[in-house]
Amino acid sequence: MVEQHYEDYRIQELALTAQDLAPLVALHHEVLPSRLYATDEKRKAFLDEILGALNGREHLILGAYIGGVPVAYKLGYRTGNRRECFYSWLGGVHPNHRRKGLARVLTRIQHTWAAERGFTYMETHTWGDNPGMMILNLQEGFVAAGALSAVDRPGARIIMRKLLRRNE
Ligand SMILES: CC(C)(COP(=O)(O)OP(=O)(O)OC[C@H]1O[C@@H](n2cnc3c(N)ncnc32)[C@H](O)[C@@H]1OP(=O)(O)O)[C@@H](O)C(=O)NCCC(=O)NCCS
Repeated sequence: MVEQHYEDYRIQELALTAQDLAPLVALHHEVLPSRLYATDEKRKAFLDEILGALNGREHLILGAYIGGVPVAYKLGYRTGNRRECFYSWLGGVHPNHRRKGLARVLTRIQHTWAAERGFTYMETHTWGDNPGMMILNLQEGFVAAGALSAVDRPGARIIMRKLLRRNE
């Protein structure tokens, strides 16, 4: 189980339970402007979506806390059709705790964890209009590997990949 400290923050791995995940889902709705006005029903549906997506798959859910309050999170899972790939799905940092290196440290913990478990590569999809996430991903070794056009908003999600180890 991941458990470590970064500056004043405690970083820990969470279990795949509604109880553990609910505070992170609440944080996710504070972090992403597009989710700020989601109804309670939609928030509950999103929690269920995460529980369903990660259930039965190898996964890593990380939370960062200060004084017991969650301020950042990052989660992903082993993909079903390409078992060598760890897909980093969601991540975010509360606005009051940004530019302190929290997203970078969570990224590094996640990549080390995946490399230790034998994953060949990481994949993540980042909106092309999200400079912070794009820059951080490039700095941490991802390359742009393709793009997916959005059907419900302008722009595209950039498929980013990072090789963790070479196939022998
Ligand atoms: C993107 C996000 C996760 C970055 O979190 P963070 O903890 O502030 O990032 P870090 O402090 O680790 O930043 C690491 C580096 O990334 C780059 N970076 C981060 N945010 C940036 C921004 N807004 N603009 C430009 N570069 C940025 C910088 O190079 C930074 O290093 P520096 O501070 O030494 O210059 C955060 O802004 C966020 O939660 N955004 C909203 C949610 C989101 O977009 N999530 C991803 C999609 S689900």
